[in-house]
Amino acid sequence: MSERLEDIAIAMVAEGQGILAADESTGTIKKRFDSINVESTEDKRRDYREMLFRSDEAMKNHISGVILFEETLGQKAVDGTPLVDLIRAAGAVPGIKVDKGAQDLINAGVEKVTEGLDGLRGRLAGYYEQGARFAKWRAVITITETTPSWNCIKANAHALARYAALCQEAGIVPIVEPEVLMDGEHSKHDINRCYEVTEWALKTQFNELFDAGVNLEGMVLKPNMIVPGQSSGSKASVEEVAEKTVKCLKASVPALVPGIAFLSGGQSDEDATAHLGAMNAAYDMPWNLTFSYGRALQAAALQAWLGKEENVSAAQAAFSHRAKMNGMAALGTWTKAHEAG
Ligand code: 13P
Repeated sequence: MSERLEDIAIAMVAEGQGILAADESTGTIKKRFDSINVESTEDKRRDYREMLFRSDEAMKNHISGVILFEETLGQKAVDGTPLVDLIRAAGAVPGIKVDKGAQDLINAGVEKVTEGLDGLRGRLAGYYEQGARFAKWRAVITITETTPSWNCIKANAHALARYAALCQEAGIVPIVEPEVLMDGEHSKHDINRCYEVTEWALKTQFNELFDAGVNLEGMVLKPNMIVPGQSSGSKASVEEVAEKTVKCLKASVPALVPGIAFLSGGQSDEDATAHLGAMNAAYDMPWNLTFSYGRALQAAALQAWLGKEENVSAAQAAFSHRAKMNGMAALGTWTKAHEAG
């Protein structure tokens, strides 16, 4: 595999493939395991992720990269093979979540700022040694009646830009993820409010990336789609989500960026696929548009697995199905009829 940042970035958004976000922090994976009554031990987390990475049909055909949590980067499969080697053997690029999570932003009520810049240069050198060739840093922007504030947008964009520059110095492709959250209950959080806030966040983000000297050809953007707040009572059709998301991205993301890989953010599995499929089927865009899903790729597999060895092949089949559907969505060939297959 070539080691140029530009080539790694292109491989991450290869035609018809996308990224598996399996980088749940210890707290988040515990929540996922609680939902299936499985205790979150180091071995169980390893078993679960090994099951995913050994899903040959998904990994070889539809997954271009896997985002790992630090623990997984150093873990070995039951037979002693490093999990990173399983990912590489399937032709996918190993990546690493490097942020230290969204913490309370001072003087800003509910708003968060993502931390983790202190010591990052040293950590990146270590992750590179362990095989990581891309990284992820997620910022969260919360829509309420009175937020986001400029302070929150600016602080998060600045941290993401500093992170991205440090990654590139270390030979690691940064995934830049400024996520406008879709949770939110108030009635004003409709699709237009999501558009307005996302456009603001993305424009600010690319200004900051420019100021930090980030090479746009050696990064991948991971944005939210333009959707109404989950409990806002407002709904949008697949076509409207596709149209507004493409428009917002075209207004905000330079054509030099090789690829955009969406987060699923709490959308249902099929909505996340349908929205991506509709964009790729109907619009010409300067970037490859694909997925970097966590929940929307794993939810069905987690439910099929239930922590039991005897369910491994059913869980792998569930994961492979979602990966295949999203691979088709990335090509713009997905239709609802394929779901039955
Ligand atoms: P979801 O697709 O579950 O939102 O997770 C993707 C991710 O990596 C969020 O940072």
